[in-house]
Amino acid sequence: MIRSVIRRLPQVVWLRAAFTRPFSAAAVPAPNTEPEIHFNKIFINNEWHDAVSKKTFPSINPATGEVICQVAEGDKADVDKAVIAAQEAFKFGSPWRRMNASDRGVLINRLADLIERDRAYLASLETLDNGKPYTMSYAVDLELVVKCLRYYAGWADKTHGKTIPIDGDYFSYTRHEPVGVCGQVIPWNFPLLMQAWKLGPALATGNVVVMKVAEQTPLTALYVASLIKEAGFPPGVVNIIPGYGPTAGAAISSHMDVDKVAFTGSTEVGHIIQKASGTSNLKKVTLELGGKSPNIIFSDADMSTAVEQAHFALFFNQGQCCCAGSRTFVEESIYNEFVERSIERAKSRVVGNPFDPNTEQGPQIDEEQFQKILNYISSGKREGAKLLCGGGVAADRGYFIQPTVFGDVHDNMVIAKEEIFGPVMQIMKFKTIEEVLERANNTKYGLAAAVFTRDIDKANYMSQGLRAGTVWVNCYDVFGAQSPFGGYKASGVGRELGEYSLEEYTEVKTVTIKVPQKNS
Ligand code: UN1
Repeated sequence: MIRSVIRRLPQVVWLRAAFTRPFSAAAVPAPNTEPEIHFNKIFINNEWHDAVSKKTFPSINPATGEVICQVAEGDKADVDKAVIAAQEAFKFGSPWRRMNASDRGVLINRLADLIERDRAYLASLETLDNGKPYTMSYAVDLELVVKCLRYYAGWADKTHGKTIPIDGDYFSYTRHEPVGVCGQVIPWNFPLLMQAWKLGPALATGNVVVMKVAEQTPLTALYVASLIKEAGFPPGVVNIIPGYGPTAGAAISSHMDVDKVAFTGSTEVGHIIQKASGTSNLKKVTLELGGKSPNIIFSDADMSTAVEQAHFALFFNQGQCCCAGSRTFVEESIYNEFVERSIERAKSRVVGNPFDPNTEQGPQIDEEQFQKILNYISSGKREGAKLLCGGGVAADRGYFIQPTVFGDVHDNMVIAKEEIFGPVMQIMKFKTIEEVLERANNTKYGLAAAVFTRDIDKANYMSQGLRAGTVWVNCYDVFGAQSPFGGYKASGVGRELGEYSLEEYTEVKTVTIKVPQKNS
């Protein structure tokens, strides 16, 4: 039974799942194609609230363009309410502040247990609201969510300071204290996973949270809010507000009583958030932003692996990944074969109903992204790139786009410079290692990069020379809660995941105590 499930699944599921857990343990149960919507309001103090303005907005199913339900639209007034609740929960001496660090770990693990209990429901809801194939929601996103929370649960009582040999008769030590009220603004491409990446380290280190969830995908985060309450987190520790960036997001990033803001999204909005911190209270800022990540295929690479991984690097998640391998550089001597095989692979990509187990690619997130991607395709054609397959709309309703491959792409074309965030692959040719390193780094971004080669010297040379926060060698998009992720240059500030993320959620306090000596 399990083996036949594996054979029916697209290869990409196998590839991703292989990194996370042996696939046999995560056989995908049938989806609920019409998951009931239980929560559509604002979550403050462990209670559900209408927006102060009473406004609502529609959450849309991107596979059909139809409204799933109305959701409370939070803005500044709701952010103010949530910040007050969070401050109250963070008061010195509050239950949350007095809780044993190990018990914080127990709560986070309990949240992970509840998410596992409701995994098939949550994966179905994610697919309905976001459009990603259900097999991915279940086997990839939910898998990584649970692992991320458990990883940080383990850190709760393991992050500690040092004793310092300061000069003189003093005892000096450091405490790693929570930053305080953390604003977190999360994107729509991995709604549940980005929520876990943000909540895990914030809660493990004892912070309180005011989170704005993307207006395109508010539903799963709100369901998780109900699980946060069920797990037993004290009121006010986590507050969740669905709403728009220019209103709710701006209210968080410019708030005088928010101590830190963590944002994942576009570089454009990253600039706005950094500025808002500068003109308000200099809150700490961490940003995980855009990219135009190079994926470099040398002629000695295993061709089948390189073709499949380059395809996956770009097309995974409908191309909606900050770290998508969106500049595929291929060495001249294998360029023709690589291009032929990439076209073949793109043409075989199964686009359609995201609840169908054979589907590899669902719809783009919304009308705006859909139009934007189609405009980039037109721009590629206009600038003389060779459209090798796809290039159009893939269905008569919803936001489906055909898997698209451009060849003969030049570095100065718009499609080679800007983040498309869609299923559009750019293939470029290179001759030498020095040339490709320089071209790969010639971008304002620096989120990720990959190299495919069997030559260890090439792999080492490139991994050291590439200016990116992550370099994958002979693989792509391998994520684990243990390894940090973040960007060089305009791709971000700070790191998420791993031990490094804990630093972004803690203040270091130095305590120095006079130690009187017997004879002084
Ligand atoms: C993943 O690929 O599993 O969009 C996560 C991105 C990141 C998350 C990727 N924010 O690239």
